Amino acid sequence: MAQADMLDVSNVEVHYDGAIVALQGVTFTVARNGLVALLGPNGAGKTTLMKAVAGMLPFELGEVVQGNVAFEGASLNGVHPANIARRGVALVQDGRQCFRNLTIAENLRAASFLARTGAAERLEMVFSYFPVLREMQQRPAGFLSGGQLQMLVIAMALMGNPKLLLLDEPSLGLSPVMVQAVFDVVERMHRELGMTVVVAEQTVPRLLKVATDVYVLSRGRVVMHAPPGEADEEALQRVYLS
Ligand SMILES: Nc1ncnc2c1ncn2[C@@H]1O[C@H](COP(=O)(O)OP(=O)(O)O)[C@@H](O)[C@H]1O
Ligand SMILES: [Mg+2]
Repeated sequence: MAQADMLDVSNVEVHYDGAIVALQGVTFTVARNGLVALLGPNGAGKTTLMKAVAGMLPFELGEVVQGNVAFEGASLNGVHPANIARRGVALVQDGRQCFRNLTIAENLRAASFLARTGAAERLEMVFSYFPVLREMQQRPAGFLSGGQLQMLVIAMALMGNPKLLLLDEPSLGLSPVMVQAVFDVVERMHRELGMTVVVAEQTVPRLLKVATDVYVLSRGRVVMHAPPGEADEEALQRVYLS
């Protein structure tokens, strides 16, 4: 493992229900301060990989049967997801889960349970990146649009003061304008705060332009690992169509 690597997934195999092979021989590293694109069509294994890192597979009868996941040099295999979160890994799952009948402010406060100290400063930081959440903070989260909800769940992850932010298909179901707005903020946080981020998407051309590293999964395997310059849309098309 290179000194600068924050996350080191090596040769990981994941099964569901003891039989379905969802990942095979997957090696995936994330450098500190990286913005890594994890691309692949539906069913490729993007969510499984993120859940393997966050320790969430046991909830779905999934299991890492081979290989190792290490964060900051320490293995995460068998570590409870709450402890993985405490070590600094935040997974923003698809589906935009939050308390829809609680206000935005209440959701953000609830999300700071992982890191109480500095919560007030972090709330300020979050509001500066997502002004719409400040404006609407007394509204129930259920009032938000899909894009605003996506911003809220990212903001909630930030309230836990993570070192590594994993975003699972943040653009799913959003209008192009909203995708743009969400990616603007992710990119700014990466640039200005040095936040280490992994973004799983099927295809987002914008992501290819800003990523520091690109991985492409297909049928549970890494079929491409390239610097962003080499992972252009044409190369991706070839992978997706093969
Ligand atoms: N809870 C589960 N139980 C059984 N199989 C699953 C489960 N979740 C995902 N899979 C299977 O694992 C493979 C990878 O899925 P997933 O990680 O969700 O891919 P992606 O996020 O790239 O769409 C697929 O074949 C999918 O059907
Ligand atoms: Mg998925």
